[in-house]
Amino acid sequence: MTAPTLTKAFLCRRLTPSVETGIRERYHLTINEDDSILSSDDITARAQGSSVLFVTATERVTAQVIERLSPTLKFIATLSVGFDHIDLAAARSAGIQVLNTPDVLSDACAEIAMLLLLNACRRGYEADRMVRSGAWEGWAPTQLLGKGLVGRRLGIFGMGRIGRSIAARARGFGLEIHYHNRSRLDEQSEAGAVYHAALDDMMRVSDILMVAAPGAPELKGAINAARIALLPDAAVILNISRGDLIDDNALIAALQSKKVFAAGLDVFANEPRIDPRYRTLDNVFLTPHIGSATEETRDAMGWLLIDGLQSLDSGKRPFNLLT
Ligand code: DGY
Repeated sequence: MTAPTLTKAFLCRRLTPSVETGIRERYHLTINEDDSILSSDDITARAQGSSVLFVTATERVTAQVIERLSPTLKFIATLSVGFDHIDLAAARSAGIQVLNTPDVLSDACAEIAMLLLLNACRRGYEADRMVRSGAWEGWAPTQLLGKGLVGRRLGIFGMGRIGRSIAARARGFGLEIHYHNRSRLDEQSEAGAVYHAALDDMMRVSDILMVAAPGAPELKGAINAARIALLPDAAVILNISRGDLIDDNALIAALQSKKVFAAGLDVFANEPRIDPRYRTLDNVFLTPHIGSATEETRDAMGWLLIDGLQSLDSGKRPFNLLT
């Protein structure tokens, strides 16, 4: 008896061992072994003939990629909650189903949001460097004075699952929560947070601004010079979402003039080629897009994709289906 032929799948990036094993057991798998970031042309060449394409936010799945793979491609599974790197309309019209990884990464991302918040407000980068470099000459009453959190207003731009997880933690620091979303949350989800129907109105009261809205073309540059000018003086800006939501020129000018006291950034426009001026500023705390980077979270994200694909195979609609 011959073994059943497994469906062909292509994996663009290396995943955690448990997830790779899970995928290998279910598919005839080809892996981009060296984990390099593949161009759209590389993806189309190397994934030819595949039915399943596993991607992450580092791959651009354009209409052209979809068209070229569409003779065989049935599913795109992205190891990310964000899907701004995939042309969903093109996938939909080619009849390709797209899965992402919501929910399971909200806690991990909220933890990194706290890392940014604390380091930006309490000058973590400068403090670490002072100790490490040997420049520290001992405790001093006026050394590295930062911004305390108690009683300050945290404005969360994008109060989805990640935004709400951030709010839950920030309340523990004594921050007053404000938020802007397209629509107002119900009272229970709001948990006392103040809703602003207009982003500009929230900017005016945000001592600390947390960008947590999903990446989308219409939000590109939403945090621009005009909006930064609305913030209270010496505000703090944090970004856990997508780099292009912030206008780099505007933020860098505001950091230089100290209109903005500090920033904490986990995401950047044109990753990994960030605007080099960020590296020269002491009042910026930088992390390399590690919001969901814990072993258990990356496992959970991978298994959400595997389980979702299995559900689709058995005719059920998984909650993480985007198309
Ligand atoms: C996400 O899940 O969208 C993260 O930004 C990782 O890509």
